[in-house]
Amino acid sequence: MRSMIPVKSRIIDIYKETDDIKTFIVEKTIDEDPVPGQFYEIYVRDAGEIPISIASWNDGLIFSVKRVGAVTEKLHKLVKGDYIGLRGPYGNGFPEHRRFTVLIAGGIGLPPARSYIEYWLSKGAKDMQLLYGARTPSDIVYKKLLDYWSNYIDVQITVDRGDSTWDGNVGVVTTIFNRIKNKDADFLIIGPEIMMKFSIIELKKMGVSDDNIYLSMERRMKCGFGICGHCNIGRYYVCKDGPVFRYSTIKDIPEAIH
Ligand SMILES: Cc1cc2nc3c(=O)[nH]c(=O)nc-3n(C[C@H](O)[C@H](O)[C@H](O)COP(=O)(O)OP(=O)(O)OC[C@H]3O[C@@H](n4cnc5c(N)ncnc54)[C@H](O)[C@@H]3O)c2cc1C
Ligand code: FES
Repeated sequence: MRSMIPVKSRIIDIYKETDDIKTFIVEKTIDEDPVPGQFYEIYVRDAGEIPISIASWNDGLIFSVKRVGAVTEKLHKLVKGDYIGLRGPYGNGFPEHRRFTVLIAGGIGLPPARSYIEYWLSKGAKDMQLLYGARTPSDIVYKKLLDYWSNYIDVQITVDRGDSTWDGNVGVVTTIFNRIKNKDADFLIIGPEIMMKFSIIELKKMGVSDDNIYLSMERRMKCGFGICGHCNIGRYYVCKDGPVFRYSTIKDIPEAIH
């Protein structure tokens, strides 16, 4: 059985992305290499343990974390050189890149999308498109990376509310679905469930099959690998059978997408 004991890992560097999101580069003290879309349980001393997706794993593990409550608040207070605990990698990750893929990411959904884009770009795959929605221009993370990726793949960004610095699209992410380059694609949706719900409605109108839509689901977790029963959606455990599910697998489970 997998160990529940976190492995001590040093924070190598920290970058402030936005007012409430920080990126942590963490020493990779666990040998097993993650795959895009997997997550780790991060233990923060005197606070607790939380699941966080890998944003990448070059020169250490990269996590981007939004401050929302007790554990993430404490994590945001740590500084370079401090230690956290790590368990993982857990979960199934995204499906293999097999053809044109459209990533639809909202808010803190961009970090897991980053793991996919960086991994497959490193393998030479350029048949990808990113549609990214943020609340406001100042909530956009990875600004330099978004510029860099746009040299290789199509990157479309929208914000819910614009400001004087923004001359791009204003509106929720579905308002840029008319820019989708290929409907005969795999669609990976990563973000809040409300975004998933409306994205699926629009994709269905475009004739996309349920089998070609993948959702990265979030649930409260404890063990992270299928023993405690905290994270179920119907008979599936999000930590072990997910977090990435084909829409066709979970669409008939009432509590899957609210
Ligand atoms: C597989 C997975 C991957 C994740 N990856 C990331 C990531 O890359 N970056 C990131 O910032 N966050 C990620 N999260 C969410 C992160 O785990 C939670 O934000 C964190 O657990 C909140 O802990 P807290 O003690 O700071 O806040 P809490 O006080 O526990 O919660 C604050 C608020 O967030 C809600 N919340 C907390 N956890 C969840 C959850 N799992 N699902 C839905 N709502 C939740 C609570 O209901 C509450 O409203 C991921 C979650 C899962 C399940
Ligand atoms: S978190 Fe324990 S079964 Fe999923």
